[in-house]
Amino acid sequence: MHADALATEAEILLDYVERKATCLDQAEMILPNSIYRDPGQFAEETRQLFREHPLCVGPSCLLREPGDYFTFDDTGVPVVLLRDRDRRVRAFLNVCSHRGAPVAVGSGQLPGGVMSCPYHAWTYTLEGRLRGIPGREGFPNCDRAELGLTPLPAVERDGMIYVLVEPKGTIDLAAVQADLGQDMAGFGLEDHHLFDTTRIPVRQNWKSLLEGYHEFYHFAALHPNTIGAISYNNICHYRQLGPNHRLCAPKLTIAELKDTPRDRWQPRNHLSFVYYAFPATVFFVVEDHFQLWRVYPVDHCHSVVYQSLFLPRPPADEAEERHYREFFEMITRVVIEEDYWLGERLQRGIDSGLERNVIIGRNEIGVQNMHRQIGRVLGRPPQMARVA
Ligand code: FES
Ligand SMILES: [Fe+2]
Repeated sequence: MHADALATEAEILLDYVERKATCLDQAEMILPNSIYRDPGQFAEETRQLFREHPLCVGPSCLLREPGDYFTFDDTGVPVVLLRDRDRRVRAFLNVCSHRGAPVAVGSGQLPGGVMSCPYHAWTYTLEGRLRGIPGREGFPNCDRAELGLTPLPAVERDGMIYVLVEPKGTIDLAAVQADLGQDMAGFGLEDHHLFDTTRIPVRQNWKSLLEGYHEFYHFAALHPNTIGAISYNNICHYRQLGPNHRLCAPKLTIAELKDTPRDRWQPRNHLSFVYYAFPATVFFVVEDHFQLWRVYPVDHCHSVVYQSLFLPRPPADEAEERHYREFFEMITRVVIEEDYWLGERLQRGIDSGLERNVIIGRNEIGVQNMHRQIGRVLGRPPQMARVA
């Protein structure tokens, strides 16, 4: 968002704060709790949302330089993403043509600009071509030209990277990204510095887990000493961005703007933004930095979350490094000890097998959008409560 749009957002939220108002959907949404445990639905979700639907893996700065790479296999398909020598983002099935080991592990910078399989050291270029076969005489009938890595569709646009883990598929970015990238432009997310990423396994259904990222309604009750102490509870402005959305919430300091001329406002200091890149990626833009969460389903009651912290520039010295390290540890502790602590307990009610409904309020408009979009792709539209 650029300066004027930010100021307009601040005006809207100043008004909401004054009126104790928030964006509301048309009615409550009622969902049977079987959607969080039904094996048939889970199988459809993993196939249609995580295999056949493009995934936003984050901002361009995840792969800043040629040879930068990262891997993940949480959708059940091992993937390596990298930036090649022409600075193009590429994705491959992370499966060696020899006997199938992953050719890259973890993330970082590929030494010498090649992927070297850890098993028998077959090497691949950044463009995925098979370059070297040690002990070549063992493979007289193997044509190197035919044994490159299997490419996967990958697209970079508006500072964001998308991948599709289905080799034969195509990415319709206009439909998937819509105006999300445009709306996020101005924050300069693509130029940030990745401070660190942590991978957190959680015993909770992936949809149930993601719900907590789409509303500011739980801040006061669940996070009274952290985010709840600096942000208003249950006040947000919502904007639909194709299948995605943006939520903006005011911090308690927003009142300071009332005494400041609009052209001197620094709205970013008083607002926090959640951007949802459907189906399971969330950006949280706040203060001078942003955080990224990517959620992947493992089974109906286990998920994996990748939490990353991005800074506008690398820490300048050891003191800054220490400051951000402590901050990163703090935000990780909060999600584990508060959000995921609760999530694991909530999951027990789901796993009890007792049929119940969950209710998504009109104020939980981002949560409603997530379920609506999932329902659209799966062909299972969620029920709305009858409007009184
Ligand atoms: S499996 Fe990769 S070199 Fe053998
Ligand atoms: Fe939370």
